[in-house]
Amino acid sequence: MIGDKTSLKGRVAIVTGGGMGMGAATARLMAARGACVVVSDTNEKAARETVAMIAADGGTAEAVVADVARESDVEAMIAQTVGRFGKLDCAVNNAAIAPDNAPIAEADMAVFDRLIAVNLRGVMLCMKYEIRHFLKRKAAGAIVNIGSVSSQRPQAFNAAYVASKHGVVGLTKTGSLEYASHGIRVNAVLPGSIDTPMLRTALNSTGKKEEDFAPILSLFGRFGKAEEVAEASAWLCSDAASYVTGHCLAVDAGYLSR
Ligand SMILES: NC(=O)c1ccc[n+]([C@@H]2O[C@H](COP(=O)([O-])OP(=O)(O)OC[C@H]3O[C@@H](n4cnc5c(N)ncnc54)[C@H](O)[C@@H]3O)[C@@H](O)[C@H]2O)c1
Repeated sequence: MIGDKTSLKGRVAIVTGGGMGMGAATARLMAARGACVVVSDTNEKAARETVAMIAADGGTAEAVVADVARESDVEAMIAQTVGRFGKLDCAVNNAAIAPDNAPIAEADMAVFDRLIAVNLRGVMLCMKYEIRHFLKRKAAGAIVNIGSVSSQRPQAFNAAYVASKHGVVGLTKTGSLEYASHGIRVNAVLPGSIDTPMLRTALNSTGKKEEDFAPILSLFGRFGKAEEVAEASAWLCSDAASYVTGHCLAVDAGYLSR
């Protein structure tokens, strides 16, 4: 008989930046597939809202306030996860802040440093403590880092964001090499233009509409839904992806194929 290997029943998952956008959709989907989910975010109210939605769906989740750029917060996030649910099996390292929108010669280095701290150092810190936990338990584990189409195709005026997202691919591939022999899989999802608060804020700052950008950014002529990216992350965390590691999966309606 063929079983459903996408099930996450009995698994414990962390989703960083789970308070809104793709993180919230991913936390909800993973809970619906059976995982107990730690919804981690700097925004406590947003994290609690995601937890409430999961509870309303019949799932199990816990909110944890953590800034992924702070090592002590990340270490405490893993400890709180283990304290609440007894272990960690998989994580979606999704938290990030938005592009910087400045040419390199005009860069504000405080903005650059904060963006790299959240988007790159944050992924490194999460991997460090997630992998430590997997090794301590001598158990398999799955990590999904959220990159971007900017991980593979740069855009002008977004140097810090592009560099951070290229770095996420480097961390993903290095992690896959170092820990495959321990049964730890490390993959990345590279979203295209996805309709979330981050994208809406960027769009509003241009004064333009979805119709002005979507045909350029997507072969489908529309922005993606957070739930469409969540499917890829949940799949990569599941046993259905047992032979997949070191992979960067674009969920971009063909943007990178042009
Ligand atoms: N929306 C897009 O079109 C798009 C495209 C490509 C990649 N991405 C990437 O997808 C991921 C999710 O993006 P989104 O659009 O859902 O973003 P969003 O801004 O809508 O949500 C991000 C969440 O992360 C949280 N967060 C921010 N800084 C944090 C920190 N230091 N520690 C913990 N949590 C923090 C926010 O509070 C928020 O809840 C990010 O990695 C982003 O770079 C987004």
